[in-house]
Amino acid sequence: MNKVIRDKTVLEPEKATIVSIKELTDKEKLFEVELDNGKSLDQTPGQFVELYMPGYGEAPFSISSSPTKDGPFELCIRKVGRVTNALHRAKEGDKIGIRGPFGNGFDVEFLKGKDLLFISGGLGLAPLRSLINYVKDNSEDYGKTNILYGCKEPSERLFIDELNEWKKQDFCDAQETVDSCPADAEWDGNVGVITTLIPEVDFDPETTYAVVCGPPVIYKFVMQELDKKNLSDDHRFLSLERRMKCGVGECGHCQIGEYYVCRDGPVFNYAEIKDEEEAI
Ligand SMILES: Cc1cc2nc3c(=O)[nH]c(=O)nc-3n(C[C@H](O)[C@H](O)[C@H](O)COP(=O)(O)OP(=O)(O)OC[C@H]3O[C@@H](n4cnc5c(N)ncnc54)[C@H](O)[C@@H]3O)c2cc1C
Ligand code: FES
Repeated sequence: MNKVIRDKTVLEPEKATIVSIKELTDKEKLFEVELDNGKSLDQTPGQFVELYMPGYGEAPFSISSSPTKDGPFELCIRKVGRVTNALHRAKEGDKIGIRGPFGNGFDVEFLKGKDLLFISGGLGLAPLRSLINYVKDNSEDYGKTNILYGCKEPSERLFIDELNEWKKQDFCDAQETVDSCPADAEWDGNVGVITTLIPEVDFDPETTYAVVCGPPVIYKFVMQELDKKNLSDDHRFLSLERRMKCGVGECGHCQIGEYYVCRDGPVFNYAEIKDEEEAI
């Protein structure tokens, strides 16, 4: 899965093409990308790529599509700075560079037979969507699945069509909430932060594994709610984000204690990192 660290080819982007662009919200777009060499990315859910935008530089992005999807892979990208603003101005057919896939991703073999509780906030759904759709496409291998998704307000919801599909399908139960709802927004769902959904979910802590990804602020509070549900620390997988440069364990930009998030993560077992200062 991880490339050999001293192999310099991992620092050279592969040529790739943006094949489609879909606007999801005011801030996020979904990009379908194809490698020009015709190869598939062959990613594990939870891995990321380094995307090179000519003239602007590189940034890491989670692969949002499942490896069970044929054809181009997908990146859900929020407009926040130099590279992402340039990407939001890009057109279908534009050329970019891709390095990766990098990082460990979720251990889909280990999770087989387990019940799953997905907890995601905002853009945290982008990496979890890859695993959720993987589980959907291999549902006979996985147990009961619950999906909890929270956003600041209804206009920030990502992948609305898919969320509505997941809610209807047998492989999972899906619940959403928004922190608040402006008077002019259409929303008849839950209002409250993501942690308000956790006490309502019925799951067996012996057989369930939580998979959490969200903005940094939610982790501490989600961990407290999972404590109340008696879910042990080693039954929690967290996908973490740190500022990165090389993406392959060379530069040290993403270090948390003894771990490099790009190489040893971005997926960590909570039991492993809970005592690392600044991990959560
Ligand atoms: C493993 C991983 C997966 C990711 N997946 C996604 C994804 O799926 N979708 C997505 O949209 N983003 C994702 N990100 C985040 C994305 O890589 C960053 O937002 C990236 O910085 C965007 O690049 P930029 O050049 O557009 O923004 P930048 O110009 O780098 O700015 C980004 C933000 O960081 C601030 N900033 C800039 N420099 C610093 C600094 N030195 N210290 C602190 N803050 C600074 C800026 O003010 C701005 O708010 C992921 C990050 C990681 C590590
Ligand atoms: S980004 Fe360079 S070591 Fe992780």
